[in-house]
Amino acid sequence: MDIKNLKVGLSYNDVLLVPRRSRVESRKAVHTESMLAQGINLKIPLISANMDTVTEANMAIAIAREGGLGIIHRFMGVASEVAEVRKVKRAEAYIIDRPYSIGKDATISEAREIMQSHGVSGLLVTDRTNKLLGILSDRDIRFIGNEEEPVSKAMTPRTRLITASPGIAMDRALKIMDSNRLEKLPIVDKGNVVKGLITSKDLYRRMHSDKYAKDKKGRLLVGASIGIKGDYIERAEALADAEADILVLDVAHGHTDGVIKAIREVKKSLPGMKLMAGNVATAEGFEDLAAAGADCVKVGIGPGAACTTRRVTGAGMPQLTAILDCSEAARKLKISLIADGGIKNSGDITKSLAAGASAIMIGSLFAGTDESPGYFIRRDGAKFKAYRGMASFGANISRKKMDKIEIDPQEVFDIVPEGVESSVPYIGSMKEVVYQLIGGVRSGMSYCGASDLEELRRNAKFIMLTESAAKESYEKLKQY
Ligand code: XMP
Repeated sequence: MDIKNLKVGLSYNDVLLVPRRSRVESRKAVHTESMLAQGINLKIPLISANMDTVTEANMAIAIAREGGLGIIHRFMGVASEVAEVRKVKRAEAYIIDRPYSIGKDATISEAREIMQSHGVSGLLVTDRTNKLLGILSDRDIRFIGNEEEPVSKAMTPRTRLITASPGIAMDRALKIMDSNRLEKLPIVDKGNVVKGLITSKDLYRRMHSDKYAKDKKGRLLVGASIGIKGDYIERAEALADAEADILVLDVAHGHTDGVIKAIREVKKSLPGMKLMAGNVATAEGFEDLAAAGADCVKVGIGPGAACTTRRVTGAGMPQLTAILDCSEAARKLKISLIADGGIKNSGDITKSLAAGASAIMIGSLFAGTDESPGYFIRRDGAKFKAYRGMASFGANISRKKMDKIEIDPQEVFDIVPEGVESSVPYIGSMKEVVYQLIGGVRSGMSYCGASDLEELRRNAKFIMLTESAAKESYEKLKQY
């Protein structure tokens, strides 16, 4: 052992970013786009962690709408994980499933009232069995004198309507609507029964949802987690079938032969599928997973809020040093580095990006939001949400319960947890949380004179803090 050259390990609180001359006029002029892998582009570099108190479909939808990515956890059966992925993929449905409708004998005045009360510009005209008879738009009745006339007199009849079949793709619908100058495209089955409606307004909104992290078909991006044992290949194939955009193959100590083999196996079965693998804490680890076929590599051993790995095992790497070490390999190999765990505020995110991360994975900071699957806890009148490490005692038990009804007492005895079961304060919606985090990051980037992440990495200069400098930086008056 070379004790003369012991390295110093740094965590986020040990450094600050040195303010630099800036051309950036406001934080709005700062770009936070980041590429995870070919074809997977994020508008903001945030990823919600694949933990059972952090990411299921609701969280993944919320973060993708803010421009980031959610990774569905794997501590459920294959069919359930697939269902969560499908929910995300369906979330931005541009087809209204149950459009407002009216009977042909209703009066114009009734139609006007329905349109006004629901804030819509048209109604489908249907019979009792929901068969399509026509469309009535507000334009059809704008100048009608007799309000008691039946809808059938003013509607565009079925014979003059262009319709589409269920399951029509967005680009095809767009083509039909554009070439026929349509405001509304009803979806009917072979028996002419209404199955939905596409409006040009919804389609337009979808196409211009610039903030969203989207796939090629305009649907929200979503990632899904797999392990390295048991049914992991079957799980990977089922998730690929559900059109997950990226798979995340991670275990606590990712720099192992087992993980390297699993990466190769997944890539062999699903050559086109993007794969994030981890976790590692050294350049060597980063390079080995990349060489095995990972499209991006996750860095972080023990920095997480619910992790006890360092205490229990004595192993780990201070997170900033881990990122700085791996970032050289990332740059050389042109493989994205994902910094995972230990983020306590937006300043930590900026530091992580400056050190070379392309995106940051977050658990505890997101666990207290409305969208996390964790249950609510009330303590002394305040609201909290459950948050637990995936190697905690409770998570270990839950995992064993997935496979069998009764657990052998010896199996319980054998558990050596490397995480805790805890809770975090309830903090409201993801939208608000992400707005504050990204607002801080944008501001931090402008302090570094950076208008995008690449410039941040180039310009960033860290300064190490003494104990009193750290006190001056972080010990502040309490917020009322
Ligand atoms: P934060 O700090 O954002 O960290 O809550 C989330 C990350 O923590 C990791 N994780 C664990 N690490 N034992 C560990 O040592 C655990 O039980 C555990 N559970 C989660 C994981 O990398 C996650 O993204």
